[in-house]
Amino acid sequence: MKAQAGICAEPNLHALYLMFNRTGDGAELAARLAKLPVLWDAVSADFPDAGFSGLVAVGAEGWDAIYPAVRPPQFRGFMAQSANGQEAPNTPFDLFVQLRADRVDVLHHAGHRVMALLAGLVELAEEVRGFRNLDYRDLTGFVDGTENPQDAHRAEVALLEGGEFAGGSYIHVQRWVHALTDWQKLATKEQEDIIGRTKVDNIEYESADKPLTSHIKRVNLKTPKGESMEILRQSMPWGTMTEQGLYFISCCRTPQHFNAMLASMYKGEGSHYDHLLRFTKAVTGVALFAPSQDFLLSQGK
Ligand code: HEM
Repeated sequence: MKAQAGICAEPNLHALYLMFNRTGDGAELAARLAKLPVLWDAVSADFPDAGFSGLVAVGAEGWDAIYPAVRPPQFRGFMAQSANGQEAPNTPFDLFVQLRADRVDVLHHAGHRVMALLAGLVELAEEVRGFRNLDYRDLTGFVDGTENPQDAHRAEVALLEGGEFAGGSYIHVQRWVHALTDWQKLATKEQEDIIGRTKVDNIEYESADKPLTSHIKRVNLKTPKGESMEILRQSMPWGTMTEQGLYFISCCRTPQHFNAMLASMYKGEGSHYDHLLRFTKAVTGVALFAPSQDFLLSQGK
């Protein structure tokens, strides 16, 4: 089963993120989504130098109206969090389209092709542009993505194996808005203690030195069998002149890893929640499933 290229895509320079809600017939929408793999291939062929990849994922709440006959086994709505006066809300959308390339003009054209294909059946609910910042740094100034799975391991972490959903991926998206003025008031060492890595040279703290409230400590979890819980992060910074932060995207063969990490950030160990949450706020939270290209094609009329 061929996975959509956007799931395991290597990092590149630009992204266009589109969230849609369905307004038209679900079966008709399934037929249009079946044309997206061809659209992804056409954009790549038209702009071979652009490193383009496309991805469509369907929201947990919207799935049954589009694909009533089958549902990925562990597919549930976004597991919202609320603790210490901090919230990670569930804000459902029916479709997520991630367009990535090294050229903004290519994303613009690809976005308009998607809009034309889905016209009359969806309304655009959110449009956000992501960008590479410096040497892969989040807007907090810390390198983001260092511990992501590499090479063939990306697919092992991100893609389901076997069954009718093979090549698909559970996707979680959150738009985070940073309080950068407050963050920048901290000394570099205070920021480093919150992340659990050094800032300039991006070196991981020794295990014993990682505060229980550091981001790394809170998200570095093990399964009951003692294996590392892994996700593939495809996040990128985003921003306008009034708001900025991280467009966080997790791709995984199971939704459980993301859910456990997010719960650990908010609920922590005892009173030790993730202190990154003092300086950033999740304003959206969406659980989706990105089916394989073969699944999308098979559901066309
Ligand atoms: C690691 C930033 C949200 C999961 C990191 C790192 C940074 C970072 C700077 C260290 C470098 C790296 O390995 O990539 C952020 C920011 C966030 C955010 C700014 C939100 C504003 C999240 C969320 C999750 C998450 C919501 C999952 C629920 C992880 C994981 C790692 C990581 C799994 C690798 C940990 C390791 O193995 O060392 N993040 N992150 N992050 N983050 Fe986040």
